Amino acid sequence: IPPPPLYYSSFPSGQQNPMVVKNESWSFPRGFMWGVAGAAWQVEGAVKDEGRGPSVWDVLSHRVTNFEYDNGTADITDNHYYLYKQDLARLAALGVKAYSFSISWSRIMPFGRGPVNQIAIDHYNDLINTCLGYNIIPLATLYHWDTPLALQDTYGGWLSENIVNDFVEYARIAYAAFGDRVDYWFTVNEPSVFCNQYPLPAQYFKNFTIPWQQQPYYCGHNVLLAHSQAYRLGKSMMPNSTIAWKSNGGYKVPLTNSTEDAEAVQRAWDFNEGLWSDPIYLTGDYNDNVKAYISSFLPAFTDGQKAAILGSADIYAHDAYTSQFNFAPDGGIAACLANTSNPLYPVCSNSSFIYTQQDGGWLIGPAADPLTPWLYKATDWVPAFLHYIKDTWAKDKPIAVSEFGFAEPFERQKTYLQDILFDPIRSAYYHDYMEAILIALSEGVNVIGCLAWSFVDNFEWASAYGVRFGMQYVNFSDPTLPRYYKASFFEYKNAFDVYQEK
Ligand code: NOJ
Repeated sequence: IPPPPLYYSSFPSGQQNPMVVKNESWSFPRGFMWGVAGAAWQVEGAVKDEGRGPSVWDVLSHRVTNFEYDNGTADITDNHYYLYKQDLARLAALGVKAYSFSISWSRIMPFGRGPVNQIAIDHYNDLINTCLGYNIIPLATLYHWDTPLALQDTYGGWLSENIVNDFVEYARIAYAAFGDRVDYWFTVNEPSVFCNQYPLPAQYFKNFTIPWQQQPYYCGHNVLLAHSQAYRLGKSMMPNSTIAWKSNGGYKVPLTNSTEDAEAVQRAWDFNEGLWSDPIYLTGDYNDNVKAYISSFLPAFTDGQKAAILGSADIYAHDAYTSQFNFAPDGGIAACLANTSNPLYPVCSNSSFIYTQQDGGWLIGPAADPLTPWLYKATDWVPAFLHYIKDTWAKDKPIAVSEFGFAEPFERQKTYLQDILFDPIRSAYYHDYMEAILIALSEGVNVIGCLAWSFVDNFEWASAYGVRFGMQYVNFSDPTLPRYYKASFFEYKNAFDVYQEK
């Protein structure tokens, strides 16, 4: 397979590439939330400062040998906790209209429950006020994977229903403190990722004896309860707010037109997005594939719980990075389902990508045709996916691309600043992705914003500093952690400026 085409076209703000003919039927509507995203654990640092309590990720990065790439830690990372004013000034300088950040639960409540840390409230208040001072819309996520350690140690975090009350209480404190100025709230980020992080390494966290195959579903069940209650509380405290959660997974395409591959795709939807989206947007309850698996061990939702879950999101927010092919496992789906010791069980859907992850790069693709991917842009799937979300779950509700982004392969091998700042594949990704959103908008999909991951290189979970998603380079070897815009940030800006409705 030949490498993907390289595009590069960055022009000063507001000017149009003379080589590109502007499509006059495209536009980003006024108020479109053109923005960037980050998350507390990945950008803040200052992990021991100002009353923050530890989260599970402090343990994972400090205590579990070789859990992190290069055994990195997020103790300092971008130091955004102290540098947020400078960071927001740099975003404002490029005209960014929305900033999606997460609140660190264990800063607000160092033990996850009980005493509230006023210093943390003051901190996020100032961050929010700084955004508003620049006319940047703040979007707050309550939980982006950094479970307070005390809750993990006491009852197993999301594996226990005890988390529901604690989460809702934390949400209440956050709404009360910030809800007069924050209109957009996300309860949880990507449960299909953090629920599949269980079991966390058993030698560091108490083993709560739930079989590993069942753990993601206990977590998922408690997420639905916690999310729906936090949603209802939020709407009662802030009737004009927009509250949702962030799903992820991207578009799934059957590898062939066989019935088995079609079933494999459906199972992948059902066990990923559908695990939460079906209850929240469609029925208040799990879909049939999921029910068939979990009903042997999980309690069914009560009628009251179903009523609280159904409709508990004002928009459909999806972190839509990429797409994948799905196909039936070897031997077929029926044989896979019969083998409960198979690690794929019960999803029984294989997936593959056109471009594999190479040296810190991220997966792109697939394009529309598995045999000739180079004829297509790596973002060709985006309009189809946005239609799929609208038709399947969102219906009349607005859709937000709550994260999207790209890690260039081999970026971390670059030495010279001018090379690091020249990121043509990421630039092409943003340019093409913006066009893909414009196509979807022109076809009647109500996309209200897109939030690029990320505004800075940051701590990429288990990949630590080995994978870079930033539209700004951060020199982590320099103690002052200087930021530099990469070309992709200008490309992202240009693509918006050319098409924003004036
Ligand atoms: C989505 C997650 O929300 C974010 O934390 C992560 O860094 C990006 N994906 C890239 O993997």
